[in-house]
Amino acid sequence: MPIDPAAFSHARIYRERALKTLSYGVSSTPRGNQLPAPIVAARAEEAHVYDATGNRFIDYAAGYGPLILGHTPACVVDAVKNELDRGLRTASVHAGEAELAELVCATLPSAEKCAFLSSGTEAVQLALRIARAATGRTRIVKFRGNYHGWMDSIHAANSVTGDGPGTLGQDPDACRALTILDWGDAKGLAEVLSTEFAAVILEPVAINGGCFMPPDGFLQEVRRLTREKGAMLIFDEVITGYRLALGGAQERLGVTPDLSVIGKAMGSGLPIGAVAGSDEAMEPVSSGKLFHRGTFNGNPVSVAASIACITYLRDNAPRLYPGLDTMAGTLERGATAAFAAHGITAAVNRIGSALQIALGLPAMPSLADTARADFAATQRFSGALLRQGVQIIGRGLSYVGAAHTEQDIAETVEAYARAAETFRREERVAG
Ligand SMILES: Cc1ncc(COP(=O)(O)O)c(C=O)c1O
Repeated sequence: MPIDPAAFSHARIYRERALKTLSYGVSSTPRGNQLPAPIVAARAEEAHVYDATGNRFIDYAAGYGPLILGHTPACVVDAVKNELDRGLRTASVHAGEAELAELVCATLPSAEKCAFLSSGTEAVQLALRIARAATGRTRIVKFRGNYHGWMDSIHAANSVTGDGPGTLGQDPDACRALTILDWGDAKGLAEVLSTEFAAVILEPVAINGGCFMPPDGFLQEVRRLTREKGAMLIFDEVITGYRLALGGAQERLGVTPDLSVIGKAMGSGLPIGAVAGSDEAMEPVSSGKLFHRGTFNGNPVSVAASIACITYLRDNAPRLYPGLDTMAGTLERGATAAFAAHGITAAVNRIGSALQIALGLPAMPSLADTARADFAATQRFSGALLRQGVQIIGRGLSYVGAAHTEQDIAETVEAYARAAETFRREERVAG
């Protein structure tokens, strides 16, 4: 449904207030860039977010990925309430930890042991540390356009257009151990990978860059080369874990890493991350020689949410994942048709339940093409969609979840058409 413009005046008034005491007015910088103004989520239900003035948005931002079961999955909400009734017990040993570890090891192909953290960023940090501890080496291969969280040692080359640190204030020395290559460049990897390298880390399916499948044979070749040189292969499945399939991209693509990093969807919206791997790969942590620290690691509330979420996904996987694919496929066709009908040059990429739109180029077959995309225009189109009652991540990414209904999808396809029409008109005036 088109949103009353007054809804955004409320959002602007809130933002002015927040900016006085909250840096950038938000708790994570990208949230502050939503156009026409960052909406204030007063409450949410299923796949819908409501602002303080009661406007309803169909939500595909999905908490930047975690909300695979929507905002109010009964199994997760009940598990969290039940857990709270038993007292907070932060930093205690509790039986949920082993139960969740058993579930992860039963569902993620590469997992025989796992360790819990509170975010994907922290989990990446632990995985890199495990690789260094296990190999006694320091160098890491990272690929352009893959994102692995905001730690200084890996927060570089987040886009294909610059290899430097990802933001102001990073210690430039912290990235010195990185060798940066183009994602998909198996030949380049064969040339640089040596016995100095502790690990090769990558998103096996590049959702962050713009939803790309790995080139044919790439992951197999990375697997072969890392084995040959004794480096660990780390799959960053923070997005793809429990989203592309129950067993993540590794299940879908049939390549098994030494270590996997998961987060987001595993927690159904509560903060959690994990590193999982074979008994051998996890030995530095399992033996206690590598200190794995963190006050909030394995906190009972996040663990309870995660147990409920993974149990639900496991029990419903045969129906749930194909259902997400089907709904996202309808959105893909709807977005493509809306752009075509209004003469807007845009690429639409989709992998499973993740959908990327990028304005400014007619197709975006590889990660390298993202250098030619117009992400400012994409952000403005996301704003046009928001005004039609559909929330996506501003840079053009949408996640379909199990709480979306056919009605939501049909309404969204109509919203694409209206947003494309207004976007085209407004850009013409502005141009
Ligand atoms: C692939 C990938 N790895 C790691 C992270 C970092 O996770 P978190 O934001 O939970 O720290 C993200 C976050 O978007 C991600 O997409």
